[in-house]
Amino acid sequence: MNYYMNQQQKMQQKKTPLYDELKNHYTKRPVSFHVPGHKYGQAYEHDFATYLPLLHIDATEITGLDNLQDPQEVIMEAEQLAAQCFGSDQTFFLVGGSTVGILGMLMAVCAPNDVLIVDRNIHQSVIHGLMLAKAKAVFLPVTIDEQYGLPCGIDPHHLKQALQQYPEAKGILTTNPNYYGISSSLEEIASIAHHHHKLLLVDEAHGAHFGFHPNIPSSALEQGADIVVQSTHKMLTSMTMGAMLHTQGEHANALPIRKALNMVQSSSPSYPILASLDIARKQIVVDGKHLIDKSLQHITQLLKDIDSLPAIQYIKQQHNTDKKLDPFKLMLYDATGILSGKELQKQLEHRGCFVELATSRYVLIVFSIATTQQDLKRLSDALKDIVHQYKLRSEKRETATYSVHFDQEITEVLSFTSPLHQNQPIHQKHILKSIGYYAKNMIVPYPPGVPLLYAGQQITEKIAHQLMHILQEGSSVIGLSGNEILDVYERE
Ligand SMILES: Cc1ncc(COP(=O)(O)O)c(C=O)c1O
Repeated sequence: MNYYMNQQQKMQQKKTPLYDELKNHYTKRPVSFHVPGHKYGQAYEHDFATYLPLLHIDATEITGLDNLQDPQEVIMEAEQLAAQCFGSDQTFFLVGGSTVGILGMLMAVCAPNDVLIVDRNIHQSVIHGLMLAKAKAVFLPVTIDEQYGLPCGIDPHHLKQALQQYPEAKGILTTNPNYYGISSSLEEIASIAHHHHKLLLVDEAHGAHFGFHPNIPSSALEQGADIVVQSTHKMLTSMTMGAMLHTQGEHANALPIRKALNMVQSSSPSYPILASLDIARKQIVVDGKHLIDKSLQHITQLLKDIDSLPAIQYIKQQHNTDKKLDPFKLMLYDATGILSGKELQKQLEHRGCFVELATSRYVLIVFSIATTQQDLKRLSDALKDIVHQYKLRSEKRETATYSVHFDQEITEVLSFTSPLHQNQPIHQKHILKSIGYYAKNMIVPYPPGVPLLYAGQQITEKIAHQLMHILQEGSSVIGLSGNEILDVYERE
């Protein structure tokens, strides 16, 4: 967040120009002789209109509503307010989630055969972006935080080593925070990157709220990143698919980013999503401090309730680490070991509480400034009820485990094979019989969406067993060709 706004800027932040113009347009009772074909909802029967209530403002690039591909009017104004709010030099509104921001960022930064140093714990969109850019990746080993037993951040030592080995690299891409809300300090990473004249690109999909409160980690922009992509829809309050890409500094060239985004985004972006970005920005900058204060108070009360249930534990902030936990995320588990994360998820859902994801051990609970005290009471009551039903008395074992296997070395990938263009004969193999072959498709447990295998990666015994484990715990995996079947090929 930009803390240095003057009075006039603070007043400006109260405006929602894009949303206002859209509302203004609607109140004129316009007759639509333009797309979309539902004509402000006239096409829909009552029931559909009730559950799709945004149709009245589902407009398009008509007079007064600007054009996302080359903003000059209200979209430009709204993007400028967002830039002021998040502390960027330029902000781009996105209607395809962080996914399109990441694709655009990579296509803009990397020319074919350019090298990018990449955190291996990345969302699938990073690999798709590298494929589209035809860039090479140098993967850094995944650092597993010992205390949390979860992958997080990159090790500055590995980064320095990679920069020595690949001085031609265009930049460094890291994910911060991770899906579980654990963030590392980026200041050292930014300073190493800049010392070597490299760009620091940050996938901050899970950290759009960072920097808006002293008890929440600071944002990637505050820590010196050059290009940052945030899912405003995840941890702030825009509609799903609403996201932003921010740039700062003279090295982050905005023009190619605009061009690349225009290649990957629709030329008919959703105005409700765009307007919701405007509203989410205003909400966090104008009322954020107060709303976060209130939410943190309620979450503290919830944690006290959970602390009265010894069997239910959660990952807690450690003091002797530079890793910071996002207070808006909670990794809960049954410390007696009776209920797996998946079972706990099922029990919570049975009681009306739907969680973000579950692993064999944890369930991930995500709050936001819109979570109410009543919502938290529902969660606390559900947990009490589960403890009662399963007689989860006291904690028995306490080891946090994380077993996803990634290369623990710096690994260069010369090119990412697109699954769409492959000439080798493809075989279908049971996962356990695929060891030594190369994956045709990217294999992605979802959530969290971090590829276990990228297309063209050799399948090792550890990865095969890991994949079996993920399937056996009931998680969904994208990219398989049948039940426990992989499409694979051999290399000479
Ligand atoms: C780390 C990370 N980056 C990027 C994305 C893509 O974000 P979006 O869903 O906004 O496209 C996700 C989605 O879960 C993610 O977890």
